[in-house]
Amino acid sequence: MANIIQPLQHFTKFESFDLGNQLIEKALLYKANPALDKAKGAGKRIGCIFLNPSLRTRVSTQLAAMNLGMEPIVLNMDKEGWALEMQDGAVMNRGTVEHIKDAAAVLGSYFDILAIRAFPSLTNKEEDTSDFVFSQFVKYSGVPVVSLESATRHPLQSLADQITIRENWAGKKKPKVVLTWGPHIKAIPHAVANSFAEWTLGMDHDLTITHPVGYELDEQFSKGATIEYNQSKALEGADFVYVKNWSSFNDYGKIISTDASWMLTENHFENAENAKVMHCLPVRRNLELSDEILDGERSLVQQQAKNRIFAAQAAISHLLGNK
Ligand code: CP
Repeated sequence: MANIIQPLQHFTKFESFDLGNQLIEKALLYKANPALDKAKGAGKRIGCIFLNPSLRTRVSTQLAAMNLGMEPIVLNMDKEGWALEMQDGAVMNRGTVEHIKDAAAVLGSYFDILAIRAFPSLTNKEEDTSDFVFSQFVKYSGVPVVSLESATRHPLQSLADQITIRENWAGKKKPKVVLTWGPHIKAIPHAVANSFAEWTLGMDHDLTITHPVGYELDEQFSKGATIEYNQSKALEGADFVYVKNWSSFNDYGKIISTDASWMLTENHFENAENAKVMHCLPVRRNLELSDEILDGERSLVQQQAKNRIFAAQAAISHLLGNK
C-alpha cells in the first residue's frame, strides 16, 4: 500500500523519500506532456521574487507556472524594489525604505504562491544558516512559498538533479554518486552542495563527498555521506559526479584553496569510465570544469537545466493541490 503523503505548505527542502519519489514521477509525466494539468492553476498567480541574479530559475519557474495555466509575474527586487529592512524594531533612518513585514504582506495579498530567491551574505554565518531573509518572507507573506534558492538550500535544482539521475540510471544497485568540490575565484554559497547532499542521501543513493581539507559542509547536510579528501580515490567506480564549488563553512565564506588539480578533465576518469558528470550551471569553464567534460559524452548539464522546468512544475502543482 502506498504511504500517505501529507501535502506541503511550502516547498523549501527535502521532506521524505516518498514525496521525493512522487515529485520525480510527476515531473517525468509533465516532461512527457507539459500541458497535462493546464487547467490546475487557471486564475492563479505566482510572484517570482529575485533578490539575486538568475537565468535558469527565473525562466524555468515561469515556464512551469504557465504549463499549469498560472500567470507568473517576476520582480527583480534587488534592482526594481525598495531597499528592504529586515530587522524587527529597526529605526529606519538609514538606507532602507520598506520593511520586509510590509513588503511580504503586500506580495502575499497579490499572489496565490510566492517564489523567492535570497542568497546568503557569506559574512553573517548565524543569519545565513537560519535562512533569515528567506524566513522573513515565509513569516510575513501568509501564502505558500517556493524556494528559488535560499542561503542554505536550492531544492528545485536538487529535484531536477534527482530527476536527471533517475533518467540516467537503469542499474539494479544504488548508483555511486560523488559530489566533488571544484576550484573557483569567488566565494560561492553552500546551497547547491547542501541541497544536493540532502536530496541524494534522502533518495537513498550512495553518496561520497570530496573536497580539500577545510571545505567540510555543514554536518546537517553531509551526515550519512562518505567524506574522502582524496579526489582520485573518491571518483573510483563513480556512476554520477556532481561538480560544484563552495566556500569554506567552518572559516565562513572564505576561499582557502584554488587548487587547479581539482578541476575535472578526462584524465580524472581512469577509474570511473562510465561516469556521468553533472553541474547546476552557471559554470566557469576551464576553471571549475573543463571544456572537454562539459562538451563531451559524460555531460548531463543541459538535461539538468531542461529538467528545471518539470521540477518546478511538479513542486508548484503539489502546492496548488494543497489549496
Ligand atoms: N542553477 C541555477 O539556479 O541557475 P540560475 O542561477 O541561472 O537560476
